[in-house]
Amino acid sequence: MRMSVIGCGYLGAVHAAAMASIGHEVIGIDVDGRKIDALSKGEAPFFEPGLKDLLRDGIASGRLRFSTESADAEGSTVHFIGVGTPQQAGGYAADLTYVDKAVTDLLPHLRPGDVVAGKSTVPVGTAAQLAARIAPTGATLIWNPEFLREGWAVQDTIDPDRLVVGVPDGEDGQRAAQLMRDVFYPAVAKGTPFLVTDYATAELVKVAANAFLATKISFINAMAEIAEVTGADVTQLADAIGHDVRIGRRFLGAGIGFGGGCLPKDIRAFSARAEELGKGESVAFLREVDAINLRRRERAVQLVVDGLGGSVHGKRVAVLGAAFKPHSDDIRDSPALDAAVRLHGLGAAVIVTDPQAIENARRAHPQLTYVTDRDSALRGADAVLVVTEWDEYRRELDPAHVSALTDGRVVIDGRNCLDSAAWRAAGWHYYGMGRP
Ligand code: UDX
Repeated sequence: MRMSVIGCGYLGAVHAAAMASIGHEVIGIDVDGRKIDALSKGEAPFFEPGLKDLLRDGIASGRLRFSTESADAEGSTVHFIGVGTPQQAGGYAADLTYVDKAVTDLLPHLRPGDVVAGKSTVPVGTAAQLAARIAPTGATLIWNPEFLREGWAVQDTIDPDRLVVGVPDGEDGQRAAQLMRDVFYPAVAKGTPFLVTDYATAELVKVAANAFLATKISFINAMAEIAEVTGADVTQLADAIGHDVRIGRRFLGAGIGFGGGCLPKDIRAFSARAEELGKGESVAFLREVDAINLRRRERAVQLVVDGLGGSVHGKRVAVLGAAFKPHSDDIRDSPALDAAVRLHGLGAAVIVTDPQAIENARRAHPQLTYVTDRDSALRGADAVLVVTEWDEYRRELDPAHVSALTDGRVVIDGRNCLDSAAWRAAGWHYYGMGRP
């Protein structure tokens, strides 16, 4: 099938490459010429495991192309919209400028019978408005939310755990749903749940899923706060409650909390939209979820201060991790970098390292010192703060090896990913998040 993908960021670039890999003929379109140049050469503009190979294979096969021209969308049967919906400057609501512009640019190139498939995370009610704008062209709008996780984006796109398609009432909607079954034919053939809903449900599924995940993380982080004043161990608590299949252990990782380009802004946009709908009280708990999350960043910084005897001024702190999570170079709203910046503000000499995210981090926070090599970051450090659980900062981090490099013996485990007993046995003062 011929398809266009408008917006070639984390979502769109992966989607375009994944669609080509399952045999479709894809044109990826983005206004950013540099991004398009890179993608056209098979270079991923960001780090995502497996993406580079997919891009190269797609381009070599002739099925995957990239362009800055909206006109190149013409002739496609399906037009995916995968542009960003960031948090508005000065507010909590989602900024829909890019979605609106994508649709405006696409309108002159739509033919009757085309399907426009929105993938961006949008406030409920957006699809209905866009459908009215698209209707005169004879094309049909559907909403097909994306649930990919960074670091697993390729796998999540090709082999998702469910497909959700929000369609309008009537024949056009049913025809569009069938077309989407054809688009995602390998997953459909495999029996992947395929849910056909109305627009509002499809839009809400995405924000509800992210709100639930954020709530789950903040729930365990709230338990960490209680553990901290009672001497309990939140990691054992998570193991114990996680054995209940109704609860489950995943996303009960207490630590410095969630960040990234989705969870923080999605829960805020959800709150803002609920307020507009007169139902702010229904998701008022999301404000608490956000507050708990932000408190954990302060807590991690406080542990460094406490560990260093009450002040970090003039002390050297090695910060292991800058990305908001491992297997990503994404630093958007990264708790790791937030902690690093706060420590710098308190007068510490902060040395940050990360296997993938240094370039992005340096651009956003040039005031910090960055090194690419983990051991250089550790050399001479008074304290070590682990904030992104890359394997090289957890499993492969041997306390005896670190002892030979650092001056101090203070380690703050912002992700509860270290073996506390092993670090203590090696003579370290170990501080976890919600652990004694
Ligand atoms: C999320 C959703 O998982 C995905 O379905 C949606 O499409 C986009 O948003 P992503 O932002 O890639 O994906 O990251 P995710 O793996 O959900 O992690 C989000 C944040 O939560 C990270 O900062 C991670 O470190 C943190 N986290 C995750 C915890 O603090 N504890 C956990 O137990 C799990």
